[in-house]
Amino acid sequence: MKRKLIAGNWKMNGSLAANEALVAQLLAEACVVSCDAALCVPAPYLAQVRALLGEDSPFSLGAQNVSQHENGAFTGDVSATMLKDFGVRYVIVGHSERRLHQGESDTHVAIKVRRALAEGITPIVCVGESLAEREGGMTELVVKRQLASVIHLNGHCISEIVVAYEPIWAIGTGKTATPQQAQDVHAVLRAQLKAASDHADRIPILYGGSMNAANAADLLAQPDIDGGLIGGASLKAPDFLTILKAAS
Ligand code: 13P
Repeated sequence: MKRKLIAGNWKMNGSLAANEALVAQLLAEACVVSCDAALCVPAPYLAQVRALLGEDSPFSLGAQNVSQHENGAFTGDVSATMLKDFGVRYVIVGHSERRLHQGESDTHVAIKVRRALAEGITPIVCVGESLAEREGGMTELVVKRQLASVIHLNGHCISEIVVAYEPIWAIGTGKTATPQQAQDVHAVLRAQLKAASDHADRIPILYGGSMNAANAADLLAQPDIDGGLIGGASLKAPDFLTILKAAS
């Protein structure tokens, strides 16, 4: 069986003191973790968390965004090369919060994926529908459109990406997709990846959206759910560790 991947998305949370405490708690129990694991932290804390994790940590370092530009006059942007400098292994791209609040389009997302891949950083590409889109029967159309743009620009390199299905209505709401609802969309995404790549089976497709210690095992038992992208529950060490154990 494929190793599962559990990535924590801290979003805009944390402080030097809180990060130190959280990482210490995670590392204290890390011996029970035998899945792939990552912490996607705010950019200013990359250096701190990298140092806290140390060498040979079971947790890889992740970022939450990358610029679509290579370098130059883009005030406030952080390039893929800079992320690489800090030992970043994964970067979340196209999170719905950025699509919504920062106006990121499918094209921006596809370019960011290319920038990350060019630096050997694995992009975690987020797709997902709003509640209105789900209720309007548009779920499949929306997620396929979002993924198609990434496939179109990145061609066979997509075998190096991670996909995360994150229904917007389930993010931070406590309202999780049922395992079957999630599996149905994951199967659609898997079929789309298969049509584009001979190596689609090895592309992890994560579920994200109110995944927690109580529901993780059922979600992770689905055939096409290869891991989780965890928001709120990744900020609480006992909860995140429970999810990691469920995936191990
Ligand atoms: P929650 O787990 O807080 O719902 O957030 C999910 C998410 O957006 C992860 O990227």
